[in-house]
Amino acid sequence: MADAVRVDSARILATGAAGFIGSNWVRMALARWPRAHVVVLDALTYAGNRANLAGLDESRLSFIHGDIREPAMVAKAMEGCDVVVNFAAESMVDRSIDDPGSFLLTDTYGVFVLLEEAKRRGVSRFVQISTDEVYGEVMGDPVTEEGPLLPRNPYAASKAGGDRLAFAYSATYNVPIIITRCSNNYGPYQYPEKLIPLFVTNALEDKPLPVYGSGKNRRDWIHVEDHCEALCMLLEAPAAQVAGETFNIGSGREWDVLEITSRILELTGKPASLVQHVEDRPGHDRRYALDSSKIASALGWRAKHAFEDGLAQTVRWYQERRDWWEPIKAGEFREYYERMYGKRKVLRAGMGS
Ligand code: NAD
Ligand code: TYD
Repeated sequence: MADAVRVDSARILATGAAGFIGSNWVRMALARWPRAHVVVLDALTYAGNRANLAGLDESRLSFIHGDIREPAMVAKAMEGCDVVVNFAAESMVDRSIDDPGSFLLTDTYGVFVLLEEAKRRGVSRFVQISTDEVYGEVMGDPVTEEGPLLPRNPYAASKAGGDRLAFAYSATYNVPIIITRCSNNYGPYQYPEKLIPLFVTNALEDKPLPVYGSGKNRRDWIHVEDHCEALCMLLEAPAAQVAGETFNIGSGREWDVLEITSRILELTGKPASLVQHVEDRPGHDRRYALDSSKIASALGWRAKHAFEDGLAQTVRWYQERRDWWEPIKAGEFREYYERMYGKRKVLRAGMGS
């Protein structure tokens, strides 16, 4: 295993990087490491969008349209790469409740395919982007990396499968993996099915904001750039410090759905009458809370964006980039929205708990 990966001049395979977090990370990585080359392997599911990578330096970016579940495709994409960052996943809890099989195949089996090729090739570093959802709901103190994995929905369980497989490849085969468990991201280029972009774009269209149940469910919310910076710092760190390790990445600030909804209404200048409390998500985790002191003391990383500013900046991005989200909401999304929300019982209208 190379001790210090020269990530600043490496050829890096970033899987799933036509999606939200991956595309933000590629933008940051190409700017931060002017001699690095990034190969994106992405199946372009509903959540993948080549336009998310528009405007980047094409001479240092290659795009391969392919699936991480296909070994031959993965072998081709990993050719010549020394570093792998796996963003590829089915990522939406509600879709996982509707269709768990595709989550198991991409979020667990797909990780296995990538790890096998990484082992065969002897890559210098493999980052598995896991999630704080693998801990399940956290009702007490913020959870450390030593906390038990108690996933409670098919998305979280499939991600836990990928997370533990990556660890097994480190312990058994010495593949130099790093596992990251980040909290809820928000920021530009997030597909409008997730809470913040859905509520912002619905508000801009004067459509209802469907709050599940009481709206008291809490999450640690982090700006995507803070997450991406943590990933860059982990890749720059010496192997002795990070290989085989798991790192929580969170802002340390929690917000519930109603607090976020009020802020979005305020920032978009829309009335509280748009809010509809609707039937709850089955098995809805009440709270995620992360202790990120390990990465803070190892690398000096901390989240820089205050949520209030990051949310205002994100709302502005969606106000200015209707060209990005309007075609998305007019496509596959309409059928999804009807399926997920069409039959959901409305419990009451307006803000309130
Ligand atoms: P996303 O849904 O926006 O993007 C996922 C990307 O993966 C898309 O480009 C999609 O086309 C691609 N993809 C899906 N299946 C694939 C396959 N079989 N082969 C190749 N590509 C495939 O997701 P995101 O929000 O950008 O999340 C990225 C990663 O971060 C995921 O692993 C997710 O579990 C994890 N994560 C997300 C959050 C969050 O708040 N969004 C928080 C913590 C961790
Ligand atoms: P989401 O963005 O789906 O992320 P996750 O469930 O993975 O944390 O949802 C964030 C929170 O917002 C969660 O408590 C569910 C809630 N929510 C709603 O109340 N209404 C919605 O339409 C959506 C998509 C989410």
